[in-house]
Amino acid sequence: MRDVQRVILVDPSDATREPLRNLLLGIESAWLEAECSRYEFVFDVVNQSSPDVIVVALDSDQNKALQLIAQLSAERPELPILAVSAQGDGQSILKALRSGAREFLMQPVVLEDLLIALQRLQQQRGQRDGSPTNGSTRTESLVVAVLGSRGGIGCTSLAVNLGCTLAQDKSRSVALIDLDLALGDADVSLDLMPVYTLADVAMNIDRLDMTLLKRSLCPHSTGLSLLPHPVQVTDVGLIHEDHLQRVIGLLRASYTHLIIDLSKRLTPTDMAALRMADVILLVTQLELSSLRNTVRLMMTMGTEDGIGDKIQIVLNRVGCDFYDGAISMKKAEETIGRPPYWQLPNDAKAMMGSRNAGVPLIQHAPRSKIHQSIIGLSELLCGKTEEVAPAKKRSGFFSLK
Ligand SMILES: Nc1ncnc2c1ncn2[C@@H]1O[C@H](COP(=O)(O)OP(=O)(O)O)[C@@H](O)[C@H]1O
Ligand SMILES: [Mg+2]
Repeated sequence: MRDVQRVILVDPSDATREPLRNLLLGIESAWLEAECSRYEFVFDVVNQSSPDVIVVALDSDQNKALQLIAQLSAERPELPILAVSAQGDGQSILKALRSGAREFLMQPVVLEDLLIALQRLQQQRGQRDGSPTNGSTRTESLVVAVLGSRGGIGCTSLAVNLGCTLAQDKSRSVALIDLDLALGDADVSLDLMPVYTLADVAMNIDRLDMTLLKRSLCPHSTGLSLLPHPVQVTDVGLIHEDHLQRVIGLLRASYTHLIIDLSKRLTPTDMAALRMADVILLVTQLELSSLRNTVRLMMTMGTEDGIGDKIQIVLNRVGCDFYDGAISMKKAEETIGRPPYWQLPNDAKAMMGSRNAGVPLIQHAPRSKIHQSIIGLSELLCGKTEEVAPAKKRSGFFSLK
């Protein structure tokens, strides 16, 4: 859970103060300490409380508002000010910042932007105070999209278990979006019976706030929160690209890690997720059709601005007997043109057992080699370990050819 930020909202106009108040009330990590409808009363309110942030709306009286900001930042330099205005031209922004505001947001304020601005202010304050910053005070979350090179390649297994593993660290908040809208099975893998799904989120997109979005997430005992695919296959069409952009924007502003299990059809919603991801794990195996598709996908994605660079290859089921002798690691590396980012061993017993029981590996088979490998991948993603050595050096480890 993020630390709560006590906020004072200053806005003489009821028309703009109300929507701002509603946005702030919907943010779990913010506590609306006081509202001020007169610029003149702000000092009294500040002195009677101990706010962490002051949000000042400028438009009722620009001069008075800027004077207030200047005075506040002179007398209470430790107190960050977030200025809000419908005038978003360079001059207006500059004036606000020169007066002492640390952040500036355009009216009407968008929830995602407000969340990010508040987190940035909190982080800056933490750094200034010298208080330790942990995963929960990062500005944005790490968004990991899991893309497959064919059906049954191991995307859901990886997405679910990576999410549960990451969620073990209580300083993190981890959410998984099941974007395999028609045939997804992340809910089954976690034995969850969703009440709300992505379809409910899409239908309420115009009035979506954090409270509503969080209600649609299904909590698992590992700490992972799942945003499930629609229950009815016919509801798939309700979910559009722009809905997903909104959902990812909101979730990444309030969760430290976001995992997205994609469909294999490269739908507009998949593409939106790929664009917004920080890392794309492209799951492949040592066999012809998935390696061929991996190359095709990399060629196609390479032409999409900003997507190709984010792709990392995850070689799944390494050491699997089915493929014995089929394609060597060396050949795979030559075909793909780079070493894998990570190799996941074949572990049919643990994986099958876990999937059939609807219990993630961390609870079903915590000592299994596949779970240990997923821990390694989670640490690599979080920057704690070095990338796996090139496959050449590892050959023999998983009895590779
Ligand atoms: N590393 C692995 N070792 C053994 N079996 C695996 C492994 N990864 C996935 N599987 C199995 O492969 C099957 C398909 O995996 P799944 O994650 O559903 O693929 P996708 O989501 O790409 O369609 C599942 O039955 C799962 O148990
Ligand atoms: Mg799947």
